[in-house]
Amino acid sequence: MSNKAILEYDGKKYELPVLVGTEDEVAIDIEKLRGQSGIITLDPGFKNTGSCKSAITFLDGEKGILQYRGYTIEELSEKSSFIEVAFLLIFGELPTKAELEKFKADIKKESMISEEMKNILDGFPRSAHPMGVLSALTSALTAFNPIPVNVNSKEAIYNAVCKTLGKFPIISAWAYRNSQGLPLNYSDNSLDYTANFMRLMFKIPTEKYVVNPAVVKAMDQLLILHEDHEQNCSTATVRVVGSSHAGLFASISAGVSALWGPLHGGANQAVIEMLEAIQKDGGDVEKYILKAKDPDDPFRLMGFGHRVYKNFDPRAKIIKKAADDVLESLGIEDPILKIAKHLEDVALKDEYFVQRKLYPNVDFYSGIIYRALGIPTEMFTVMFAVGRLPGWIAQWIEMRENKEPIGRPRQLYVGATKRPFVEVDKR
Ligand code: ACO
Repeated sequence: MSNKAILEYDGKKYELPVLVGTEDEVAIDIEKLRGQSGIITLDPGFKNTGSCKSAITFLDGEKGILQYRGYTIEELSEKSSFIEVAFLLIFGELPTKAELEKFKADIKKESMISEEMKNILDGFPRSAHPMGVLSALTSALTAFNPIPVNVNSKEAIYNAVCKTLGKFPIISAWAYRNSQGLPLNYSDNSLDYTANFMRLMFKIPTEKYVVNPAVVKAMDQLLILHEDHEQNCSTATVRVVGSSHAGLFASISAGVSALWGPLHGGANQAVIEMLEAIQKDGGDVEKYILKAKDPDDPFRLMGFGHRVYKNFDPRAKIIKKAADDVLESLGIEDPILKIAKHLEDVALKDEYFVQRKLYPNVDFYSGIIYRALGIPTEMFTVMFAVGRLPGWIAQWIEMRENKEPIGRPRQLYVGATKRPFVEVDKR
């Protein structure tokens, strides 16, 4: 395999180094191209641009492979736990038993939030979307933890990781409680991370909270599936914001905002809203397939398609099975699941979707599980954020440890050329 590429432009040849990753991916390094030639490359949406070298997550969209630090998502989601996978993503290796126990205990030590944070929460109307509240509260954590993480100290990084993992589920649950007008819950440190998170969300003051192990297991698996996904929109946001040496909480707050959009994490909410709309409209799946295919109709089949997966989304396969299991174990028959399956069957055979390689993505089925677990639609993307947090942290740390330069893309200017200013009375 050649270790250089040649670009010919305007009669001149430029040699560009070629790099090969550990999974044999090939990248042409254009870092010095502009310096040598004055030319930039143009790639809106970064569809074909690698912004960094990363050793965290590997995914092959053509083959439907997703691996965290070399371990397959299928194996991790079956055998591991959310916190164990978080340790793996952030620190690079699976923890020993002692490391895992210490990690869990250290996260629990961070399960208190300043009471003053409640004043900020109180300022939001109940109608505020929980993702907006979560982004604002995450940013506000900076004010209560103003000392920036010393990225040269392993201890400081470890403490920041525990702090972030400890506090984020609490403010996530508080965003939900605020939207429901419910009193806020505090952590119960006798519970594991995911069980505690469910309790934070759902415990009501008048009743004892009983942990349902089936529900907690399903939730833990869902969180694992969401933990990282290399340079997606929100993660790229976290890295770019952090590249200006903005703090960890500020960078994660920006990641929450990026995740909120319906083309990214917000799709899980949009999927359920779409399925409910189809149900209300008489369940005519074919009608919505036609709408999705119509170039003059802005409607898209939410939960279908992915920027990287052009085969299948391996997470969707696991979640589809988990949705069946959860509904069965809870004895729920959800008509929406039937519509989802019908939609998937029709779409997967339809030439339009086949040609464009549009398959169900992670969000297509996750919403159905969240619904079965009693989580309101508006909270779906918050659940995604809680799952994605370890990935954001791992990527932020990697970016700082690799001493990456500030993220600052170029552009091709296509506006007006230089012209004289015209006084207002002459325009
Ligand atoms: N329904 C109907 N048509 C679609 C869909 C869809 N869900 N997704 C893509 N297409 C079509 C486009 O109209 C386009 O058709 P054309 O070539 O005739 O113009 C073609 O497929 C390619 O689509 P792009 O938008 O160029 O693909 P891109 O990689 O930019 O977008 C995205 C990927 C944003 C995920 C897109 O498929 C989409 O909007 N899906 C629905 C939203 C969704 O489920 N998002 C969650 C993604 S997973 C995640 O973020 C966790």
